[in-house]
Amino acid sequence: KTIDSLGDLRGKRVLVRSDFNVPLDGTTITDDGRIRAALPTLTRLAEAGARVVVTAHLGRPKGSPDPQYSLAPVAARLGELLGQDVVLADDVTGDSARAVVADLADGRVALLENVRFDARETSKVDGERKELARELADLADAFVSDGFGVVHRKQASVYDVAELLPAAAGDLVLKEVESLSRATTDPERPYAVVLGGSKVSDKLGVIANLLTKADRLLIGGGMVFTFLAAKGHSVGSSLLEADQVETVKGYLEQAEQNGVEIVLPTDIVAADAFAADAAHRTVPADAIADGTMGLDIGPESGELFAAKLADAKTIAWNGPMGVFEFDAFAGGTRAVAQGIVDATAAGAFSIVGGGDSAAAVRALGFDEAGFSHISTGGGASLELLEGKELPGLAVLAD
Ligand code: 3PG
Repeated sequence: KTIDSLGDLRGKRVLVRSDFNVPLDGTTITDDGRIRAALPTLTRLAEAGARVVVTAHLGRPKGSPDPQYSLAPVAARLGELLGQDVVLADDVTGDSARAVVADLADGRVALLENVRFDARETSKVDGERKELARELADLADAFVSDGFGVVHRKQASVYDVAELLPAAAGDLVLKEVESLSRATTDPERPYAVVLGGSKVSDKLGVIANLLTKADRLLIGGGMVFTFLAAKGHSVGSSLLEADQVETVKGYLEQAEQNGVEIVLPTDIVAADAFAADAAHRTVPADAIADGTMGLDIGPESGELFAAKLADAKTIAWNGPMGVFEFDAFAGGTRAVAQGIVDATAAGAFSIVGGGDSAAAVRALGFDEAGFSHISTGGGASLELLEGKELPGLAVLAD
């Protein structure tokens, strides 16, 4: 159901779940991509004359108020972007929240304090979550689910509240689902997937599913060392999940059986320490010396990966190729991003998923328009690629 299904919203209180889980340095937002992505829905509701009450989380506070996770910086930035003051309630559903909502004029937007300051939000006990959902529902006449990054969470403000109010998917959620569906449902081929990030254990489900769906899997990032170890190479002191080596060996065999090409780096940038100014050199991927750690894929691998992307018609990318935050180890991520931009210009449909890859794209100065879709979802986009049913989406379809 879309926002249109909610009918005339003038004067109605609309509760919107957004994902404002942005990276912070103290109280400074270092990447406001998720806030900007929320604007189309919020602007549309405000222009329709709704009284917009936004609920969101930030970080993982322990179920009670914690100033370091306050949404105050988000309220300020959201106000700047919307061009109106956004009042932040001091609590989630308490006296302050009720007063802020009661004072809200048509077309105005207010934000409730971090919903994870209330332990019931993430409770595994249905009744506890439903109690908080009821309090949230009492603040509104309708619910719009627009926090794509949290639709994989069965939480009160994502899932349970949608059962209590007329509910619809917001524009961001619709755009995300439509874009990701182009990769998950009958992708145009060749379909190439680039996976990086630190841990292979975070990506087991997605790899297993892609071994039946993708044509090529390009692997980089910290997780690649478990693949190199599975190939019998020594990886020095690189990140290694020794307990996953056997699983990865199974994946390599299954890929061969299924005709899925697994592309691993041929060279690695190995450093003496995990530091921006660490001494480093490029070595063959099967010759990482003891006492050194791989922090990026090498330049030859960057070229290889770009070549493997050049003729792809569908591309999904999740996870940086190296420690892109350090200049010396950003080359692999840059090469992959450029390869995807070039393939997109040549007609591929490309999706960048995962907070880190999206942040990398922006931090490395790429124009977002060079990619077909930059997802705001980390875990959520991975779970869609994994073929799972996401509770926050299923509840809207019911
Ligand atoms: C994210 O950052 O991926 C989402 O905001 C979900 O956050 P969570 O992993 O803490 O639930």
